[in-house]
Amino acid sequence: MNPAVKAAIGKPVERVDGRLKVTGSARYAAEFKVANLAHGVLVMSTIANGTIRSIDRKAALSAPGVLEVLTHLNAPRVRFPERPQTVDDYVAPVFGRSLPVLQDNTIYFNSQPIAVVVAETLEQAEHAATLVRVVYDERKPATSLEAEMARAFPPQEGLMKEPPTGRPADVARGDLQALSKAEVTIDETYTIPIETHNPMELLSTIAQWTDNKLTVHDKTQWVPNTQGYLATVFGIPETDVHVISPFVGGAFGSSLRPWAHPVVAAMAARAVRRPVKLVVARNQMFTSHGHRPYTVQRVGLGAGRDGRLTAIVHEGTAQTSLYEENTEALVNVSRMLYASPNCITKYRLVRGNIQTPLYMRGPGESSGVFALDSALDELAYKLKIDPLEMRIRNHAGRDLDNNLPFSSKSLLECYRRGAEKFGWSRRTLEPRSMRDGRYLIGMGVATTTYPMYRMPAAARARVLSDGTAVVQSSASDMGPGTWTTMKIIGAEALAMDLSRVRSELGDSILPKASVHGGSGTTASVGSAIHEACLAVQVKLLALATKDSRSPLNGSTAEQVTAENGRFFLKNDPSRGETYADILRRNNMDSIEASVESMPGDENKKFSMHAFGAHFLELRVDAELGSVRVTRVVTGVGAGRIMNEKTAISQITGGVVGGIGMALMEETVMDHRMGRIVNASLGEYHVPVNADIPVLEAFFVEEHDEHVNPLGAKGIGEVSYVGVAAAVANAVFHATGRRIRQLPITLDKLL
Ligand code: MOS
Repeated sequence: MNPAVKAAIGKPVERVDGRLKVTGSARYAAEFKVANLAHGVLVMSTIANGTIRSIDRKAALSAPGVLEVLTHLNAPRVRFPERPQTVDDYVAPVFGRSLPVLQDNTIYFNSQPIAVVVAETLEQAEHAATLVRVVYDERKPATSLEAEMARAFPPQEGLMKEPPTGRPADVARGDLQALSKAEVTIDETYTIPIETHNPMELLSTIAQWTDNKLTVHDKTQWVPNTQGYLATVFGIPETDVHVISPFVGGAFGSSLRPWAHPVVAAMAARAVRRPVKLVVARNQMFTSHGHRPYTVQRVGLGAGRDGRLTAIVHEGTAQTSLYEENTEALVNVSRMLYASPNCITKYRLVRGNIQTPLYMRGPGESSGVFALDSALDELAYKLKIDPLEMRIRNHAGRDLDNNLPFSSKSLLECYRRGAEKFGWSRRTLEPRSMRDGRYLIGMGVATTTYPMYRMPAAARARVLSDGTAVVQSSASDMGPGTWTTMKIIGAEALAMDLSRVRSELGDSILPKASVHGGSGTTASVGSAIHEACLAVQVKLLALATKDSRSPLNGSTAEQVTAENGRFFLKNDPSRGETYADILRRNNMDSIEASVESMPGDENKKFSMHAFGAHFLELRVDAELGSVRVTRVVTGVGAGRIMNEKTAISQITGGVVGGIGMALMEETVMDHRMGRIVNASLGEYHVPVNADIPVLEAFFVEEHDEHVNPLGAKGIGEVSYVGVAAAVANAVFHATGRRIRQLPITLDKLL
């Protein structure tokens, strides 16, 4: 059953947590059994801009079971960090000042948390929450990006000036007049609405104080960051905060930062001197955990008659809150995805009475590639060049943004094999030229890319005298299979059978992990586990080679290799001994090594990205305008794939999300009240099984020695980026209608 040691990586392995999850025994944050638990329910503002004049707790306090009602008037004063809370010098989720929840009477956005009711039961707290009476001094809200466009500004706040790639957003290279000089041009505007993450698991915290020490069961994608954040907010040492988060029920970016609820839960627990559970309700999830920001993008492309790009102009504007500057790599992709010698990118923010947005699947790139790859498609039709051929002609052999070679790139192979599997050659060029009865058939292609982010991360490996081993890091697992991947990486590095190695994750008592985001967990935490395993092996081998009782006594490391938990001489495999033998002889129960694993200077020598292509077929009902995706083939080159089984599932999962972005997802704001009108899964649509056909995905094998010790680039977001463009391009092919405003709903096609 278990794959042989040397082949641990790359073979299909079942999720180690699969059984726990399908039997309901995997514990999520709100499911931990804690004695004497009280329940908190948030009260949200009903205006989007203004101040609280008065807030009356009396009726709520006298309702049955109510223990306490905290508002800005009686909540403890806490200290929100001014600067990003980073465990290291990692700069990706760059957070400014948090919402100062329950600290003053300012209302920044509609459905802002303004009080918490704590009661014996959830139902009692929910009831009492309706009894809190608030009088506001209301001002007119500003929630429309378009209406505020004149006040757009370049990001200012420190790290925020440089989105996650570490490269500034405003860049110009080559001939700045190239667009106006081009033989053929496209210049269009693309709009993406607010989208809400909507993971299955609601944001939840159980907070508990013991003396002045805080324990939280919290849904988080970044355990050490939540730990550090709560320590700062409550002014206690980091070591006095214990964060437990073994499983995360989907997140898509929504738990990259601690929101108000863990702070409020901890405030409440302190006030009632009991553990408090606070679950953010589904409708509150729309207003309390970020969202993909509303963006407007202008893309101008110029090319010669041969289809080769001579100019790219990409200007993006995104919405942010009044109190923070959320930035993402919206336009950066236009500088490197296709080979244009001349390129201008510009990025602006517009403030509004909204909560701060937050990264959502392929943040920046998903939105940016929708605009860029739609525009490239438009240009291809204008030139009467096959859209796939157009992309091949503009393939970038090197990163023209930073003028570095790619560490590896298999995009051309993704195009070639994807087209073959998909049957692209059967496609006819003209829009509206493929039909099946009442259905217009469309085939579209789009490119995807996402940077390889390796972040500092720590891990520990321990080999035990019973012949097993454990690898540890505080990383979260929101569903991609990190528990399984880390075990596989451990088994390979330790040269042990997979069944003998287990992983331990999701707890702040474990070594500090990097954020579970930016598609960087395998590259970062995986590299740390790999290095910790090699380090513990070195220690173990030294115990043998320096010991006269060992058959390996006097051998050098170069002469020895390992398999199945046993060291032996390369030239005489009969001479050797197991790790367990070594430990037992030394009267040791276990031996361990901890490492802090850091990226090197590889990003100065190489541009490191995963690349891929989506080929997508859909049918549009010619009379109703309804769109159904019928086939998708996705090819990805992302370095070494740790576990093909979970990796394929991650790619197709991303495609499902991308189909949602393309066809369904839209958080609708009523600008008169600055209030979201569809804050429920009844009215905010995400794909369900019936919306999704059989999806096919494949990987092009890459051996990339430059990215990190594992050669892995990460696949979480490359799966998602480009899907919306592929859908829009296929819709155009089917109907001849170019939709530049997501989502592509039937009203736009009628
Ligand atoms: Mo991802 S949007 O970095 O969770």
